[in-house]
Amino acid sequence: MTKWCIISAGGIADRRFIPALNDDEENLVVAIMERVRERALELEEKWGVKCYTDEEEMLRSTDADAVYIGSPVACHKRQIELAFKYGKHVFVEKPLALCGDEAEELLTLAKAKKLQLTVGYMMKYHNLHVLARDIIADGGIGEVNTVRASLGCWYPEIEGAWRQDPTLSGGGAVMDLAVHCIELLEYLLDEEICEVKSFISTGTFSYEVEDGAVIIFRTKGGVLGHIDVSFNVPDAATPSKLELYGSEGSLVAYGTLGQTEDGTLSYVHSPGGNYNASREATYVDCETFLAEGKDIYLRQVRDFNRILKLGIPEYGWTERAVQVQRVVDMIYRDAR
Ligand SMILES: NC(=O)c1ccc[n+]([C@@H]2O[C@H](COP(=O)([O-])OP(=O)(O)OC[C@H]3O[C@@H](n4cnc5c(N)ncnc54)[C@H](O)[C@@H]3O)[C@@H](O)[C@H]2O)c1
Repeated sequence: MTKWCIISAGGIADRRFIPALNDDEENLVVAIMERVRERALELEEKWGVKCYTDEEEMLRSTDADAVYIGSPVACHKRQIELAFKYGKHVFVEKPLALCGDEAEELLTLAKAKKLQLTVGYMMKYHNLHVLARDIIADGGIGEVNTVRASLGCWYPEIEGAWRQDPTLSGGGAVMDLAVHCIELLEYLLDEEICEVKSFISTGTFSYEVEDGAVIIFRTKGGVLGHIDVSFNVPDAATPSKLELYGSEGSLVAYGTLGQTEDGTLSYVHSPGGNYNASREATYVDCETFLAEGKDIYLRQVRDFNRILKLGIPEYGWTERAVQVQRVVDMIYRDAR
């Protein structure tokens, strides 16, 4: 059983993470910290656990094993350091930190303290992404050469929204959405992005952070890629598409990039390439797989608990979360 403290039970904590913990008998939420008193009282009533308005008081007063952090990005570093000071393992929401150096510092600290530091990139737990990774690893689309990910939402100006304040968020659609695509593509390809060219847009909304971005990149192994993210496409028209092409086929997923395990994955296997000089349309043998509709947040919690049970922290995916921030640094450097 893992006992959890929650630091900041805002949108994602309240909608996804706490429900996932409560759905699993291996977890117990023992306390919640929320900075605004009225909201803390509401949460106390809603979740039936003691709520605090001060993180340190909560950490001092409870015997939790792990801390979940669901606050704005600029708060992560201080809160992670505080949780480590009290000897707690940490599950922090994505992105880990404001930049690569800050992320690296946190990873170094976790290693020094021998505490787990997991970052909430849950999309790799989607059954169709696991399947895509297995197909690629088995050589099912041959040598991967081109990949693409598109993710967006409608995010208009909202008074006081931390995501729209660069000092709290570190950036807009790149920090919020592209980070998921980078992490997932590196997971699927099992290799790092090493070079980027990028454009960011600020045209649709008046806030200071970018409302869209187009990023092209190259991985260390030579795969070429494209990511586009948007805050400025209506939800009903929002893209969620993932494409992976190789010398023997393709994998194309629709509707899998998101908070729920939805969508489809179409797999074309075409060994030998079927060279056709006339380029006439040919029948394509395409296999389509469906999402299982399970809770991907619960899957990542179970993975976190697996590591705690082993008693030895695992930093492989934390290292990737640091690498994601290095790529984000490159994106902003190139775009500005
Ligand atoms: N993995 C995912 O699916 C996912 C989805 C959404 C958000 N997130 C991440 O979760 C974290 C929180 O995002 P959210 O959408 O829940 O945000 P939110 O605005 O809904 O909640 C923010 C929480 O942080 C608290 N907070 C502490 N200091 C604050 C400050 N200075 N300004 C504003 N709020 C402050 C708020 O009280 C609130 O509890 C971010 O890191 C975000 O990137 C992850």
